[in-house]
Amino acid sequence: MKRRTLIKGSATALLASSLPKLSLAMASASKSGEPHYDYILTAEPATAQLAKSGDTEILGFNGQFPAPVIRAKQGQPLRVKFVNKLDEPSTVHWHGIRLDIAMDGVPYLTQAPVPAGGSFLYEFTCPDAGTFWYHPHMNSVEQLGKGLVGALIVEERERPDYHDVIIGLKDWRLKPDGSYLPLSLPREAARAGTLGTLATVNGEQKPVIDVPAGERLRLRFLNLDNTRVYNLSLRKDDAKVIAIDGSPIAQPYTLTSHATGAGMRLDVGLISPNKAGIEIPIYDMKGRYGIEICRLKTISNDKTTTPKAGLPALPANPIPTPQLDKAETLSFVFEWAGALSPSDKDGQVDHSFWLINRRAWTDHSHQHLPAPLATLTLGKTYIFELHNATPHHHPIHLHGLIFTVLESDKRELTPFHTDTILLEKNERAKIAFVADNPGRWMFHCHVIEHMDTGLMGYITIA
Ligand code: C2O
Ligand code: CU
Ligand code: CU
Repeated sequence: MKRRTLIKGSATALLASSLPKLSLAMASASKSGEPHYDYILTAEPATAQLAKSGDTEILGFNGQFPAPVIRAKQGQPLRVKFVNKLDEPSTVHWHGIRLDIAMDGVPYLTQAPVPAGGSFLYEFTCPDAGTFWYHPHMNSVEQLGKGLVGALIVEERERPDYHDVIIGLKDWRLKPDGSYLPLSLPREAARAGTLGTLATVNGEQKPVIDVPAGERLRLRFLNLDNTRVYNLSLRKDDAKVIAIDGSPIAQPYTLTSHATGAGMRLDVGLISPNKAGIEIPIYDMKGRYGIEICRLKTISNDKTTTPKAGLPALPANPIPTPQLDKAETLSFVFEWAGALSPSDKDGQVDHSFWLINRRAWTDHSHQHLPAPLATLTLGKTYIFELHNATPHHHPIHLHGLIFTVLESDKRELTPFHTDTILLEKNERAKIAFVADNPGRWMFHCHVIEHMDTGLMGYITIA
């Protein structure tokens, strides 16, 4: 079995346009004849040029931002050796993957933290193809906020005929000179979360991303930010939503604007104009107004002579179908409860602002585990009634399972699969899933400051 370190280089060597080509998976045959996809991922301090007038001290996977794109193949083993060169403990969580609990990367709950200078071998099989991501699950405001976020692409057994374009969105809390502003402000953490001051797409401000002309494109948007909701739009009728949070949509539909909260993904299909030099802007919509975040630009394409037509649906993933008639229903209420309680440690103030079913997870580390929010029976179907009783958005995420969004009192929807549901203010929604993956799975808001100030818990499946 061979391993290799990912290519080292400055951020400029990893511009948006070159990212999709960096397929770094090493397929090598094991004794069983199955190919392995092997990586070494090192979390380490590095510098990156993000602001115009000064470098930023980031935390980078393999010292890079954007982090290396990890590619795995559906149904085949993926091995990643994680090396921690930070000066504090860390882990890697594989967001959206229905994996074995031992590989889920949550400190204390699923594994011991990987100490500074330590390493850990993550080895699992990805049952579902799609756009996923990876990040630590420790000291998250800082570790994610300073750059430890990366794309995990699981390729279909049979690759659909789309050209991949990865569009990773992340904001930074920087002063003009590239140094950090405080990553979290308590008064913002108690509201929608502390927004960044500098928006980047694949590590650059408003980049122009080269795409081949006359091709079927799969734009894989990943919201890798700690806080922000992006209302993604191309303001074109021919762009179609083909997957949400990694899960294919059975019947692709026209993208108007899609609210993509922190941690969420969106795959958009588009046929690029069959002519070089055409630019296609991509927007974050604020009501009727669009703020351009980046643009695509066609380059001549010698591969295709006949332009592509149609945007076929992606193959469905093997998600078990919930037995709704036999389901048990559980309710979860997400609430605001302002409290500033002085903590004993370092005379610091512990902030706890948010509750799930009247409980806050107040230990910022995970060292003292609370009781689970619920204990589910393995193999049974559950319906969760979710109620956001706050005036803010919350992207609510469940580890280790993919659920179906059944209905909402705020919008018409066709049931779809996801790992994260963005609850609008005061929204009530119903989700369902088969509890087929045993373990203790985190259930939390992906606005990192919300999770850090109470909006976090776990459910046990046994
Ligand atoms: Cu991206 Cu606990 O998850
Ligand atoms: Cu996750
Ligand atoms: Cu939240």
